[in-house]
Amino acid sequence: MAHAVALGIDIGGSGIKGAPVDLATGEFLQPRLKIATPAPSTPAAVAKIVDQIADEFTDDLPADAPIGVTIPGVVQHGVVRTAANIDKAWIDAEGEKIFSDAIGRKCLLVNDADAAGVAEQRYGAAKGAQGLVILTTLGTGIGIALLHNGVLIPNCEMGHMELNGHDAETRAASSIKDKEELSYQEWAHKRLQPYYKKLEDLLWPDLIVVGGGVSRKHHKFLPLLDLRTPIVPAALENQAGIVGAAALAAD
Ligand code: BGC
Repeated sequence: MAHAVALGIDIGGSGIKGAPVDLATGEFLQPRLKIATPAPSTPAAVAKIVDQIADEFTDDLPADAPIGVTIPGVVQHGVVRTAANIDKAWIDAEGEKIFSDAIGRKCLLVNDADAAGVAEQRYGAAKGAQGLVILTTLGTGIGIALLHNGVLIPNCEMGHMELNGHDAETRAASSIKDKEELSYQEWAHKRLQPYYKKLEDLLWPDLIVVGGGVSRKHHKFLPLLDLRTPIVPAALENQAGIVGAAALAAD
């Protein structure tokens, strides 16, 4: 039988957040719990917090409720392959096993942007969208999810594509806007415009969804972009990672 509820846990640069998700609606069944990401964000330190969050909710969930966890890096067959913005000890760590052991229950580990993309496609801004949907998360780094007719093609790392001789996320992420104190206009014209232009020229998407915390301020920068592809703000904002992790774990 299909699962009605699953637990999602989203590991981010500043916080680790979790909540039980109603899989029919994509809504939280209880308020989410957020605990600061430990520094350094080593596998052992992060696993401890993930277990703490799981503990908070598992008693109220069915014993077989799926658990999904995200991480801001490439995940191949449960193994973390990259760690641009988390502790380098994650590279080649058996993330899925580490979290399953810590929680004491089998869980699924997925890339954070992939989870957010699945959530937006099933419940949010890309609901019902056909063709190629690209979700981009603008935050500490740039995350990308590719979905074709609703099917996820995991681990697209085009947040790191080359942009004027640089790793794109070191030019266009929202953390860089903050660090360099760029205005929304400067950021949109000089950084986001060339980034999204290159992305649409290489991938020819039907729809681009923009997530990450800054997407709440979408009216300040999305209208400044000149693209052929429709580009819209995410609907689930910072909940998307949790919701997508839960949904993928239940698949
Ligand atoms: C990582 C991606 C991740 C993105 C957003 C990038 O630095 O390489 O795997 O999805 O940040 O967190």
